[in-house]
Amino acid sequence: MAASRNPLEDLRETLSHLTEQLKLPGSERVDDLVGDLFGGRPGPARPLSEVQAELDALVGLETVKEQVRALVALLQVQARRKAHGLPEVATSQHLVFLGNPGTGKTTVARLLAEMYRAVGLLQKGHLVEVDRSGLVGQYVGATAIKTDRVIRRALDGVLFIDEAYALSPEDGRMDFGPEAIEVLLKRMEDHRHRLVVIVAGYPQLMEAFLLSNPGLRSRFAREITFPDYSVDALQTIFNQMLVQHEYTLEPGADEMLRRILSGIHAGEDSGNARFARTLFEQALNRQALRLSLDEDRNLDTLDRDEVMTLTTDDLDEAARALGAGPAPEPQSDPEPSRWWHWLT
Ligand SMILES: Nc1ncnc2c1ncn2[C@@H]1O[C@H](COP(=O)(O)OP(=O)(O)OP(=O)(O)O)[C@@H](O)[C@H]1O
Ligand SMILES: [Mg+2]
Repeated sequence: MAASRNPLEDLRETLSHLTEQLKLPGSERVDDLVGDLFGGRPGPARPLSEVQAELDALVGLETVKEQVRALVALLQVQARRKAHGLPEVATSQHLVFLGNPGTGKTTVARLLAEMYRAVGLLQKGHLVEVDRSGLVGQYVGATAIKTDRVIRRALDGVLFIDEAYALSPEDGRMDFGPEAIEVLLKRMEDHRHRLVVIVAGYPQLMEAFLLSNPGLRSRFAREITFPDYSVDALQTIFNQMLVQHEYTLEPGADEMLRRILSGIHAGEDSGNARFARTLFEQALNRQALRLSLDEDRNLDTLDRDEVMTLTTDDLDEAARALGAGPAPEPQSDPEPSRWWHWLT
């Protein structure tokens, strides 16, 4: 009796066959097929005005919005030039997003991808987000295959590489990151009309990344900086989440919110808008726990106000659970400082 075949063996054969196919010259159609299989078919394009309105509604980010508007306007003017039979000036659309975690980079990248679709630069306008682990393999040769696959998924959309600096470790140890960069640069050239790449990360580390390969700097000519949010902006973002999900703060709780948001220090570790979101979600947990622990109440009899309201304690406990207690209460009549005594 013939030994039954190992299913893994079948899979290996299929994969190697596919890999061979993809190596064939003029494999654009295979790319399309794979892109369609993995990239999914997006719904109908949203009109530019609608996507623009969503971008405008984001809190703060004024310089980011201005730069995005300029990018899109340039494309629109170039399209009009083409319509008039004038030569288009081919400009690179690849971008560097500089900013700390939670400053809105992914959110803006997703909207920008849609805008590129709305003005006809990209056919699908989807966003494929990866970090180092999505591009780099464990063995010799694995990285090129992995990176290639991700790029095919991103064709006709935006490839967003978060913490891209991790592809060029500074200590110079044996690493496959640079191989991913090589493949990326090559494919950006091969597919220059079908792929926009955005690399993102902390400002200082991204500088080292861009210098790590001479091809990178010239291809990513534009940089957009995402500043840390102010306490006011974070408070507005939190309030937007309340409105959007139909919650309210009990009277006085906004003072606690302000203290919590003032207590986080701007910078890499603050979490920025992501902190506001996590705090909101954590406060919902606290509210639910509080309501369920109330022995006098049956959860089925809770009224509308009760299920809508977040209390000062909900926020306080949520912040503590996140390791971010509120800043000390502001003193209404602060003690004059030592220096003041000394001066007077
Ligand atoms: N300006 C803003 N207005 C409203 N909500 C925002 C704003 N910026 C970010 N957010 C919200 O904060 C969260 C984090 O944003 P986003 O994922 O875009 O940040 P990021 O810079 O990509 O962060 P990370 O580096 O951690 O991936 C999301 O839930 C997003 O909806
Ligand atoms: Mg992100």
